Amino acid sequence: MTALFPARRPRRLRHSSTLRSLIRETSVSADDLIYPILVEEEISEPVMIPTMPGISRVPERSFAREINRITKDGVKAVILFGISHHKDADGSDTWNPQGLMARMVAVAKREVPELVVITDNCFCEYTDHGHCGVHRAGSVDNDATLENLGRQALVAVEAGADMVAPSAMMDGQVAAIRRALDEGGHTNAPIMAYSSKFASAFYGPFRAAAGCNLNGDRLSYQMDPANGREALLESLLDEAEAADMLMVKPGLAYLDVLTRLRERTLLPLVCYQVGGEYAMIRFAAEAGALNEAATVHESLLAMKRAGADLIISYYAHQALREGWVSA
Ligand code: PBG
Ligand code: ZN
Repeated sequence: MTALFPARRPRRLRHSSTLRSLIRETSVSADDLIYPILVEEEISEPVMIPTMPGISRVPERSFAREINRITKDGVKAVILFGISHHKDADGSDTWNPQGLMARMVAVAKREVPELVVITDNCFCEYTDHGHCGVHRAGSVDNDATLENLGRQALVAVEAGADMVAPSAMMDGQVAAIRRALDEGGHTNAPIMAYSSKFASAFYGPFRAAAGCNLNGDRLSYQMDPANGREALLESLLDEAEAADMLMVKPGLAYLDVLTRLRERTLLPLVCYQVGGEYAMIRFAAEAGALNEAATVHESLLAMKRAGADLIISYYAHQALREGWVSA
């Protein structure tokens, strides 16, 4: 052993903050973030969500103000969830051109035309049974749901949505929506597919938030958390059905899937940091166990590093407002 040992010293590039920033491989900025908003009709005050402190259901009547507030803080893209008071067996309000989904889109685009407005396309917040589609004889009818998804996506795009994001996990949903949009003349409207969506316990806080009535589970349509290879199959099928972007959901616990998918597709990839991930950081921060800003930044960075181009996060607005990520 000589005095020069070791020759390889990675620490050489870590000695100053400017040097560290020069070799930094990944970053998170406003261009990477999509903010989910839950809009409830027929209420007058925001409803705080106890399972996700800091997040509220926004009354439809103050939604215009909310859109202006968050875009001033730097939010560039939103994904909209409606909390319906017009639930029925099939979720028909979603394809009513005067329904909640169409109204949310119209208000957001009217207030801030340059904001990228994406709709979450599903039925669970609009059905009285809480399932993500037509429920018949104890199970969800795939092909009947496809037809309704097509109508719903068409209504969303005709109301002005920049992109539709089907999250029902029905087989063929991307193809059905593509066909409905194309037949409606909307060949340029992109589809962000919730392509590898797992049946996850991390959705617990969101289900409380969305007030969904689900009695049972989604194991017959969402994916088994044990299956990585099948997750690739699901995403690649959506690519073959002409999805414009693919998604892995949830985020942090499924980064292996994201990385494997990154190596198999050239499409942009989205990672959804779900309600349970938000709640874990938030409650730990409130207890003084975690530094919230640093933990949020590190989690988002991890998703980018694993292969995400875009991240849907309940922290998107706060992270931009407080400067936890760059503008
Ligand atoms: C509806 C939908 C869900 C989420 C997004 N779209 C809930 C579910 O599948 O139960 C999850 C959002 C979250 O947990 O933050 N299909
Ligand atoms: Zn659903």
